[in-house]
Amino acid sequence: MSNNRDAIVIAIDGPSASGKSTVARLAAQKLGFNYVDSGSFYRGITWKALREGLDTSDSQQVVALINRIDFVCFLQDGAVEFSIDGEEPGEQIRSQPVQEHVSDIAAVPEVRVFLVNMLRETARFGSLAMEGRDIGTVVFPDSPFKYYLDADPEERARRRYNELAKKSEYNDVSEVYDSLARRDHKDTTRKAAPLQIALGAKVIDSTRMNAEQVVDVILEDIRLAGAKA
Ligand code: CDP
Repeated sequence: MSNNRDAIVIAIDGPSASGKSTVARLAAQKLGFNYVDSGSFYRGITWKALREGLDTSDSQQVVALINRIDFVCFLQDGAVEFSIDGEEPGEQIRSQPVQEHVSDIAAVPEVRVFLVNMLRETARFGSLAMEGRDIGTVVFPDSPFKYYLDADPEERARRRYNELAKKSEYNDVSEVYDSLARRDHKDTTRKAAPLQIALGAKVIDSTRMNAEQVVDVILEDIRLAGAKA
């Protein structure tokens, strides 16, 4: 398997619940690109680790896990999905236990090497919009289309709470706020590929913008780059 060097990559990074998923999905749809939610890959490994009863803070156990699993990516309805040992985790990757442990798993350097390779390989399916924490800094640093999406923490907590709504195990917005803050802290302070603004990335503050407006900014930027080429 090799990377598709002609594929166009839109790299979208940012903190939790900054709107990356909605924006990346919509941008991909409008351009006929594939959508890749890199966080779902980290959540998938976390789901598998919890299911096997591993201690997610024990990196040796986690490394042994990634060495024995069969992780397979495939294209489904314009999005890159995956299975682990033949099973698709589905919505289970959004559960509270996965939510609380994913940043520990994502801090293990071997996990990152493993998943960065998997994520790069998804370009074999064609052009894509990929969202995450290190897409512009590590996974596709040469992409000319890098964006850093941000929003005020209160607004992000509100968005996530509404999104999880009925199926949520959280009682109120403040619990979600605390959970996001814990994860953001771990994601920005870890040694391996911390969340940061990629060199040359365009920063978009979406606090007072809806997803359509953010996508318009990105599409206009890509259109202008095309016009300049
Ligand atoms: O949806 P939300 O932004 O809350 O999170 P996500 O994109 O599903 O990512 C879940 C977790 O995976 C993050 O908190 C990071 O710890 C990790 N992650 C990462 O380290 N690198 C990525 N490229 C994507 C996610």
